[in-house]
Order: sequence, then C-alpha cells, then structure tokens
Amino acid sequence: MTDVQQAALMESTTPGLVVAVEARELRKHFKVPDRKKGRFGRKTRVALDGVSLTIARGETVAILGQNGSGKSTLVRLLSTLLLPDGGSASIFGHDVVADARAVRRLVNRVSVEASFFKKMSSAENLSYAARYYGMTSGQTRDRIPEILTRVGFPKDRRGESMENLSRGMQQKVALARALLTSPVVLLLDEPTTGLDPRSKLEVQEFIREIRTAHDATILLCTHDLTEAENLAERVGILDRGRLLVLEPADELKRRYGAATLEEAFFAATGREFEAEGDEDDDDDREVFA
Ligand SMILES: Nc1ncnc2c1ncn2[C@@H]1O[C@H](COP(=O)(O)OP(=O)(O)O)[C@@H](O)[C@H]1O
Ligand SMILES: [Mg+2]
Repeated sequence: MTDVQQAALMESTTPGLVVAVEARELRKHFKVPDRKKGRFGRKTRVALDGVSLTIARGETVAILGQNGSGKSTLVRLLSTLLLPDGGSASIFGHDVVADARAVRRLVNRVSVEASFFKKMSSAENLSYAARYYGMTSGQTRDRIPEILTRVGFPKDRRGESMENLSRGMQQKVALARALLTSPVVLLLDEPTTGLDPRSKLEVQEFIREIRTAHDATILLCTHDLTEAENLAERVGILDRGRLLVLEPADELKRRYGAATLEEAFFAATGREFEAEGDEDDDDDREVFA
C-alpha cells in the first residue's frame, strides 16, 4: 500500500468500522434512441434501479446477472467513471462523486474490454500505468517483472506487443496492472469471460491469491456461477438493475430451496441463467466508459 493510499484510508476508517464499499439506493439511467418516437425519439433506459449494498474490508462479493442487468454500470459508478442519477456510493467513506480523487486512489477496475496501448508490450504498458500512478522507476524496476511472473505471464513474451497476445494473456496483464499499485478495492468486471478453460482457471487462482496476499476487497461481477460460488463469501443477484439478494451461496440456495446456484437464480429472477456470450442489447449505446 502506498503512503497516499494509507492516508486516504486513515482519514476515513474509524477503528472497528470496516465498510469498504457502500452503495445506497444507487440509480443510473441512460437516454437511448427510440425509433417508435421518430428519428430523434428518445427513451429512458434504467440501468440501475436503487441498488444498496455494503462490502466489508477484505471481503469478496460476487454479483451474478444476465447481460444488461447493470453489472458494468455498478462497477463504473463505483470507480467514478460514471455519475449516479440518484443515491450515493462511497469507498472507505469517500463519496464517489464529492471525493472522486480519493476514490480513484483506492479502487482499481479490471474489465472485459481492458484497454492497452496495442503496439506496446505488456511490460511497457505496465510501466506506463505505474508512472501514471506516480510510482518512480526505482519502484517499478523489480515490481513489474515480479508481478508479471506472479500472474503467470511467460518471460519470453514480455517484449511482444499486446495485439499479438491471446485474450487470456491480455487479461493476465490487465490483472497485473491492477495489482501494480496494490489497490485496496478491486472491481473485477467479468475478468474471465471469453477465456479458454485453462486461462480461466489460472485467472481464478490468481484472484484467490490476491484475496489472501493483498488484503484486498473484491467486487467480482461474473457470468460464471461456479466462479461466484468458489471465490466469493457472498453472492448477489442483479436483475434488471435491482439487487434481489446478497448472501452466502449456501444461504441463497437454501432460501430458494435450490440444489444449485443456477436453480436459485431461476427461482429468484424467473429467468434462466443464460450461457456466456449470449447477445447483448448494447447496439444503441452511445458512450463506452
Ligand atoms: N453508455 C450507455 N448508453 C446507453 N445505455 C447503456 C449504457 N451503458 C449501459 N447501458 C444500458 O444499461 C443496461 C445495463 O448495462 P450494463 O451495466 O452494461 O449491464 P451488464 O454489465 O450487466 O451487461 C443495459 O440495458 C445497457 O444497454
Ligand atoms: Mg458488463
């Protein structure tokens, strides 16, 4: 943890109170085109409809939801990439709107569409990120190779440009980048979606390791029921912008009298949990954040 992060944490944490992430009645809507209303017609699409949750320091919470249920919107709001239309959220007591700078120091987001300088290598991308976060070259010299080794990134490919790497490898670099600055809160937005089974297991193993070694608080949005069950202390179901439940997987199953998480999901939402890679209704999106 850096001094700045430590300071940001100290300001906010009262002893005994260890709330890392808090959302209260969080709302977000988007104006999207509505062709029924003519060429310039618009309608409101509700992405988050009053989501409240609390995540304790050191806890891992998984959020399960279909495509379009609001997972990425939640992650973007918590990482200050979007502004809420209602409600509030805070990270270690720092409001994501009023105190966005402090929040950015504590939070790191890894998303499916991780962005890199495609012509640069993994090591170059990491050192760019390190400089952006104010690390000195002395600090990064050992840290970058060390962290790439820890995510299982092969030594002989570190000079290769990002665009030549598989999705699995790119995702490992994205995780390595997130860990570089030892974030206190990790927001993982479908970190294993689209990965082959082996890379998926490697990334999951790595997430497990981060939990224990880094004292990180993790919000894991996922499409993978097993991943949610194996990695998280509590599992939430997000459906059409509403968080229906958030509790340990066993209690969740018990609540719905379900043998599996998939059955519980069906019981909670009235809908099948669709397989990864099903169509997204993202065509009329206007901004990508
Ligand atoms: N920038 C945007 N512009 C318009 N609609 C958006 C935008 N971002 C998300 N949405 C809509 O909000 C809803 C929730 O999206 P999202 O948070 O991406 O869901 P998920 O990550 O669970 O697939 C979807 O209906 C999506 O189309
Ligand atoms: Mg998403």
